[in-house]
Amino acid sequence: MRSLLCVPASQPKMVEKSLTLDSDQIILDLEDAVIPADKAAARAYLREFLSTVETNKHLSLRLNELSSPFAKADIELLDGVKPHILSSVILPKINSLDDVKSWANKLPKGMKLEVQIESAMGLIKAPKIASHPQVISLAFGPADFMASAGMPSASPGTPYPEAATALQWPLMQVVIAAHAHDKIAYDGPYFQIADHVGLSRSAHTARALGVDGKWVIHPDQIALVNQAFTPTASEIAHAQEIVAAFNASSGAANFDGLMIDEASKKVAERLLERVTQIRR
Ligand code: GLV
Ligand code: MG
Repeated sequence: MRSLLCVPASQPKMVEKSLTLDSDQIILDLEDAVIPADKAAARAYLREFLSTVETNKHLSLRLNELSSPFAKADIELLDGVKPHILSSVILPKINSLDDVKSWANKLPKGMKLEVQIESAMGLIKAPKIASHPQVISLAFGPADFMASAGMPSASPGTPYPEAATALQWPLMQVVIAAHAHDKIAYDGPYFQIADHVGLSRSAHTARALGVDGKWVIHPDQIALVNQAFTPTASEIAHAQEIVAAFNASSGAANFDGLMIDEASKKVAERLLERVTQIRR
């Protein structure tokens, strides 16, 4: 997935609209985008929506933390949903492998789990968290992570200018933990929705770090994020040339002044695999 659109389940109009947009996945949010007073109504709406919706989009549900007073009703909601309607659940604020196991015990059997790494402890434990067989992806949550790490901020998910690039480090840790277990790595949302330049920079940086896709929180963010995570025609052509040059060599080759070897071929092949996945 390149873009995952997170929509508050308390906003039926936005949920309906999300079905018509170009994001690769829709996250129906019961957690932080829904205030406590609206959670019951949001669940009631989702019960109806999920029993009637017809879409070929990937739908996921973001649940409230297991330790919160809302989780029990979230789980009951899931019990009534036909399994094929949801492709996964999103679990926020996961801090340990035990958190994942506790969720897995309470959720319908075999449910795919996409976890958010958004605390200092979650980051430390990310490699173990990613090892759980039902976990299919890790997503970095910049806003909650900054709160947990004690990073001051004037706007969620954006560090002070003195530490402008500081979130690249935890994001890369998430990529390493996820990819070590052949799982997917996502970046969280960019909260300044009017700042398309900043969004584009954030998405391109994430991709350069090995991230597979990014959350979005506004329809206007989808196209930019899809574009950032789609290899360009020149990247594809370059990758094809590298593979061809390597295959025609005896193990290492000078390609236009660039020394290429087995590792360069792997990088190129990974990019080409990604293109195949996106076209599918
Ligand atoms: C997302 O959930 C975040 O905390 O950034
Ligand atoms: Mg969060």
